[in-house]
Amino acid sequence: MQILGVILVALVSVRLLQSIIAAVQSHSNARHRTQRTLQLLDEQIAAVQALRVQRESQQMHWNGYRKFKLSKKIKEARDVCSFYLVPHDGKPLPRYLPGQFVTFRFQVPDPNKGQMKSVVRCYSLSEAPREQYYRITVKRVPPPARTNIPPGLISNYLHDQVNVGDLLDLQAPRGEFSLDPANSKPVVLIGGGVGVTPVLSIANAILESETGNDVWFLYGVRCGEDHAMRDHLRQLEQKHENFHLHVRYSQPGENDLCERDYDTSGHIDINLIKSLVKVTNLDFYICGPPQMMDSIVTGLRDWGVAEDHIHREAFGRATLSKVANKDETQLKHDKLDSKKTLSIQFNRSNRNLTWDGSHNCLLDLALEAGINIDSGCRAGSCGSCEIAVKSGEVGCRVEPGINIDKGSCLACISYPKSELILDA
Ligand SMILES: Cc1cc2nc3c(=O)[nH]c(=O)nc-3n(C[C@H](O)[C@H](O)[C@H](O)COP(=O)(O)OP(=O)(O)OC[C@H]3O[C@@H](n4cnc5c(N)ncnc54)[C@H](O)[C@@H]3O)c2cc1C
Ligand code: FES
Repeated sequence: MQILGVILVALVSVRLLQSIIAAVQSHSNARHRTQRTLQLLDEQIAAVQALRVQRESQQMHWNGYRKFKLSKKIKEARDVCSFYLVPHDGKPLPRYLPGQFVTFRFQVPDPNKGQMKSVVRCYSLSEAPREQYYRITVKRVPPPARTNIPPGLISNYLHDQVNVGDLLDLQAPRGEFSLDPANSKPVVLIGGGVGVTPVLSIANAILESETGNDVWFLYGVRCGEDHAMRDHLRQLEQKHENFHLHVRYSQPGENDLCERDYDTSGHIDINLIKSLVKVTNLDFYICGPPQMMDSIVTGLRDWGVAEDHIHREAFGRATLSKVANKDETQLKHDKLDSKKTLSIQFNRSNRNLTWDGSHNCLLDLALEAGINIDSGCRAGSCGSCEIAVKSGEVGCRVEPGINIDKGSCLACISYPKSELILDA
């Protein structure tokens, strides 16, 4: 870290000298050369600064869970609340990339058994990176209509039971759905419902970094009562010429006014994107309900947007997740593999189960049999369900979003290719 500091001081000194030379140079060719040198020096200074931030951040990262205190709870819409979290140990926070998420572990009463149980959930950070606090924004999940199924456990627990001063357990931020604002190009950010959270973090970070790059922000919600961050977004629109906001309501309420509260009605779709953005060579970041994401991703592909320009975050199982670099033949083999009947031994639980191809993944097989494996995202992104494979071979349905230990698998996206012994 000290070496980076010395390099930075040296580069800044050389830059200062060059700018003095540029100021006194009269010949235009020489001045042009010096300007080019200044530009290169600026790029080098930016690169060293970015490396320094990255190193600092790595040093501050923590393994496992760290205690955070809830410092503020703000209502953002009818069923949406923001939670501000400060580290309980008072030590600095690592910087994260906008768009990343944190994994929580809660101790909550088990409605079936009457005891406490540990539950893991992931929440995107909804603010641009801050040194003092993390912010998440959570929507209360209701029970499915006309059923006896209970409402969402943790979203309701956070809304109803967690108060300022309470302590929560958090893992360090992670996730691939992110960008470095300093190196970003013009972007199209698309958020549906509470899926607005990671794209809001990205928008805030780009606008704060003042790169001047265009940011298209398409936000779809049902109606005014669900419209979170309304004032904040309108303020961004007024303040930044490069911020292009479009809000679409799918079911405007009686009191919602077009052009005052929202721009158009309907769902966000590819036609809206084409009409606003017009070009395909931008980066598209999408987070929202599965149906919305599937239709937009398909539309973008058909429109000719390159696969590596389409970034998506699923708040649960994704249907159109990136398939792990496989060709059609491999995919067919995998499908056949996942249908085999195989014996799966969970050695810590002392249980032997049979895989008959009717489960989506090893996590589902285990949970259905009452074997407890932690899980958060269920999409291969958070690492909560990582288990060691003691023998046998597993396949992955989608590309893992994180690096895992050799000899381990993410149970939420894995299926057996042979008989297995798992450390669970
Ligand atoms: C990377 C990532 C980032 C995320 N970011 C955010 C965010 O910023 N904001 C946000 O609000 N959410 C976010 N989520 C989603 C969040 O993690 C939770 O999934 C969400 O809050 C619901 O959790 P819950 O415990 O309330 O619901 P759960 O208890 O998991 O229930 C989910 C649904 O299942 C139903 N259900 C409950 N029990 C049963 C049963 N026995 N049978 C059938 N159905 C049942 C419930 O009624 C509910 O509809 C994110 C998820 C991921 C993976
Ligand atoms: S539950 Fe998040 S990686 Fe499996």
